[in-house]
Amino acid sequence: MSNKPHWTLDSIPWNELRRERVAHSEELFYMVAGASFIETTSDLYTRNLVRHFADNAEVSEWLEQGWEPEELQHGRALREYVRHAWPEFDWEAQYANFLADYSALCKPEMLLPERSLELVSRCVVEMGTASYYTALHHASSEPVLAQLTKHIFEDEVGHYKYFYKYFRQYRDIENTSRTQVLGALWHRLKVIEDEDSYIAIKHVHSTRHPGQPYDKAVYKESMGRIRKLAGKHIPHRMSVNMLLKPLDMAPLARRVLQPMMEGMARLVA
Ligand SMILES: [Fe+2]
Ligand SMILES: [Fe+2]
Repeated sequence: MSNKPHWTLDSIPWNELRRERVAHSEELFYMVAGASFIETTSDLYTRNLVRHFADNAEVSEWLEQGWEPEELQHGRALREYVRHAWPEFDWEAQYANFLADYSALCKPEMLLPERSLELVSRCVVEMGTASYYTALHHASSEPVLAQLTKHIFEDEVGHYKYFYKYFRQYRDIENTSRTQVLGALWHRLKVIEDEDSYIAIKHVHSTRHPGQPYDKAVYKESMGRIRKLAGKHIPHRMSVNMLLKPLDMAPLARRVLQPMMEGMARLVA
């Protein structure tokens, strides 16, 4: 494992950014700014995870030296993109508001006590981000955003592979059943839908619509618009495969479960 990221903020050609292709789009702004908030906050989650795996040198080393620096770099790069594309947005001020809300969710007790299940739920998150950046990649014709989202997508797939590898080790140690895995997958998909996105959209919405109240209905309306723009670019087959993989099923059972998983993948999409 290398400590050095394979791409850097300096390797992104910021001066080639075609602002006119994104500046008008509230949906793209929500997608990029919202993601920049969540990625920037990765260290809160890493800290809890490292503590959870303190007795496993390999896992905690990867979390601290592989995963966390890459996630934080995603946050920095997306924030830089926001600065170029939407310079009127006061990123620091809004991030402070977001952090106050979001950090309440990142408590150690939010982690699943069975380590195999926590690892498989991280696979769901990485599947979600890989799908998200694929959709964002295709949702605009802006070349710098396309390049950036491709880099991030590749990192997220790499993260999935590590979490999956460690999940398999702990599944054998903890004798985790398929039903438990399915429960953890479902639980994590619901958390992404109900909490992470809701809070991220809240703090980007308030700058576009100052003084307007924010509730579930506003959130649903915003998500509806985002879905209209980017939903058709969600790589459903890839998402379903990433969800099914940890269940390690025979081909027949896999076929039976496939429609249910597609429904779950659509939910998170
Ligand atoms: Fe990320
Ligand atoms: Fe990731």
